[in-house]
Amino acid sequence: MHGLSDVFTLNNGYKIPCLGFGTYLAENEVLINAVKEAINIGYRLIDTAAFYNNEKALGDAIKNSGIAREQLFVTSKVWNTDRGYKQTKAAFEKTMEKLKLDYLDLYLIHWPANKKQFNNAEEINAETWKAMEELYLEGRIKAIGLSNFLPHHIEELKNTAQIMPMVNQIEFHPGFTQMDTVKYCQRNNIIVEAWSPLGRKEALANDIIKSLAKKYEKTPAQIILRWIIQQNIIPLPKSVTASRILENSQIFDFELNNNDIEMISGLPQAGGECANPDEVDF
Ligand code: A2P
Repeated sequence: MHGLSDVFTLNNGYKIPCLGFGTYLAENEVLINAVKEAINIGYRLIDTAAFYNNEKALGDAIKNSGIAREQLFVTSKVWNTDRGYKQTKAAFEKTMEKLKLDYLDLYLIHWPANKKQFNNAEEINAETWKAMEELYLEGRIKAIGLSNFLPHHIEELKNTAQIMPMVNQIEFHPGFTQMDTVKYCQRNNIIVEAWSPLGRKEALANDIIKSLAKKYEKTPAQIILRWIIQQNIIPLPKSVTASRILENSQIFDFELNNNDIEMISGLPQAGGECANPDEVDF
């Protein structure tokens, strides 16, 4: 990985930028300005979701960015209340209307339906996925995938899926690496994306991260993002602060050695939500 324009290739051949821009908890003018900043700096992958309540503002920001549509990689996600075949299709149309786009680069199921809440969780996920597959085959979406799916959810999906997911976006930061899921995805040609890569910024205060920042003459955020990218995982740091948006993109001029990567991988919990998709009740 040498720069912001580097890409990974998904299992259907479509290219995805190696670093993304997260937008959770950013709305309205703040979001618009942050996206403008990010695009100017060179971010091309922008990650949103129906749940973030910012698709309309993001659509405005993209429209006014002056950059060609095909230069950007836009991701959104179907929210939990819209699971199922018909609902997913309708939710997708709403998302596209708000984003003002005629195709989406990547559409994800935001969370799997779980057995704690639904007796027929497997069936619900299968129906949601069927809608995603059809939208993909119609050319409305360039790639389809999952978010917060554990290996057993993906195994269940395989019983009915015609198309294997291309991406799984999971919570991933120091102290919460979900390595079983990462390994499962990487074995199965599913690219992993990391949400809350900075553990909602708590991980930045960790002493080991701080000492590595000193050693490499980088910032704690840059150390963590580099650690993620060196594992072939796409970090999606969220920031609405111009200096941090820039800082988070400057991770291509150094490399962590293997010992340091392992040291970070072994850290105890450092922030984030540490959500268990089988246990959540939303
Ligand atoms: P802000 O958006 O106000 O700039 P995560 O992506 O792990 O969920 O973390 C997001 C949080 O981390 C936000 O509060 C964001 O603040 C903050 N943040 C993002 N990048 C940096 C950075 N380079 N240094 C310090 N804080 C950061």
